[in-house]
Amino acid sequence: MLEQTRSPNPTYNQAPSEGIVREILEKLPGPTEAAAKMLPPECYTSAEFFEFERREVFARSWLCVGRVEQVATPGDCLSAQPAGEPILVTRTQSGEIRAMAAICRHRGQVVPCAAGQKTLRCPLHFWTYDLEGNLIGAPHMGRENTLELRKSEKLTPIKLEIWHGFIFVNLDPLAEPLAPSLAKVEPYWAGYEDADLVGIPPRIADTPLPWNWKVHVENFTDAYHPEFVHRGTHDFAPSVTEDGGVVFTDMKPGDNAIIRTVPMLKPDGGMNRDGWGENPAFPPIKTISAAQRQRLTFVMIPPSMTMVFAPNAIAFTLLSATGVEATFASSDRQTAGGWLLPRSSTELPDFNDRAAQVLEGGAKIWAQDVPENLGMQRGKKSSFAPEGVYGPLETTLVQFNAWLLHAYMQAGLRS
Ligand code: FES
Ligand SMILES: [Fe+2]
Repeated sequence: MLEQTRSPNPTYNQAPSEGIVREILEKLPGPTEAAAKMLPPECYTSAEFFEFERREVFARSWLCVGRVEQVATPGDCLSAQPAGEPILVTRTQSGEIRAMAAICRHRGQVVPCAAGQKTLRCPLHFWTYDLEGNLIGAPHMGRENTLELRKSEKLTPIKLEIWHGFIFVNLDPLAEPLAPSLAKVEPYWAGYEDADLVGIPPRIADTPLPWNWKVHVENFTDAYHPEFVHRGTHDFAPSVTEDGGVVFTDMKPGDNAIIRTVPMLKPDGGMNRDGWGENPAFPPIKTISAAQRQRLTFVMIPPSMTMVFAPNAIAFTLLSATGVEATFASSDRQTAGGWLLPRSSTELPDFNDRAAQVLEGGAKIWAQDVPENLGMQRGKKSSFAPEGVYGPLETTLVQFNAWLLHAYMQAGLRS
């Protein structure tokens, strides 16, 4: 049992929670063990621990909520719920993109988006706000009173940063800037944006997946499983080859990206109706290097975003979690988007047919992952759950573990 082999870690003794969360935090491995030990299974099964993660991890992380294309012109608005908090992202009249809490300053109703409008209007008593969140009207509140309210009331601004056209928000007003934490991803962008990329936003998933969010992203980043789970769909991009295979990157303090790169058996492969293979549905991007045209790079931006750099596209997934076993993933695997493609590819006359081929191939890969994710979640509830053993193909999992431990430890230090 974990309790018998892990001594309580003094780092977590000041954890900000009581009860089961505190018990779990005290069981966590210390920093030196982190490279070798999985997290206690309760981190994946406890509703209280999930609430702790929502508050202390998601609400303090940079979370991608969409693409700039989704708020392309003044008046455009996007609703999102990072860490469960309703927010609005607007394009203001001056062309800026702003994020704000979607919570009315009158009595707290949620304020919806109304695309293409110059104001945001609360549906309950029609208080209105400009696209920067400033109160501009409050019916029947009295002229003097309204003038005073206009000076003091504003939808609470939320930190926002744009990274390669992705809109990230952070609910923590003291958060460090995002871009430096993603510096290690920059080399993988080389040449892509010279191809006049068009963002196709993901369709928001409407059905939760019945596993913990960490199971979901661990499956994404795991270089060990494709050879066994994805036979027939992933063989074209193997983690193990005679002269190499998967390549990992270092994880330095402050890094917020976990990266693995795998070679392809031939250049210019990509997704087709059978998964990864030659003869992909979309043509290669001419502006990237020969080396980039021979590999796939999987980038996880914890806790909620994944990306795949392929020779013909960048695919991305946005994840949100609403419960310990309720994970929403918006991705091209199940829905219809979450891509960056050269404009020339999106303008191909048979674009829809090609996209359908990618979805068909993606669905085959996904169908192979689903039972594994279900099984991993079930295994977390077993009294025989192991402490775990990581092998040489699982560096990204060790890195994710370290990232989580750091986030949990920060929560302890804040208390
Ligand atoms: S709660 Fe928004 S106007 Fe009353
Ligand atoms: Fe997989």
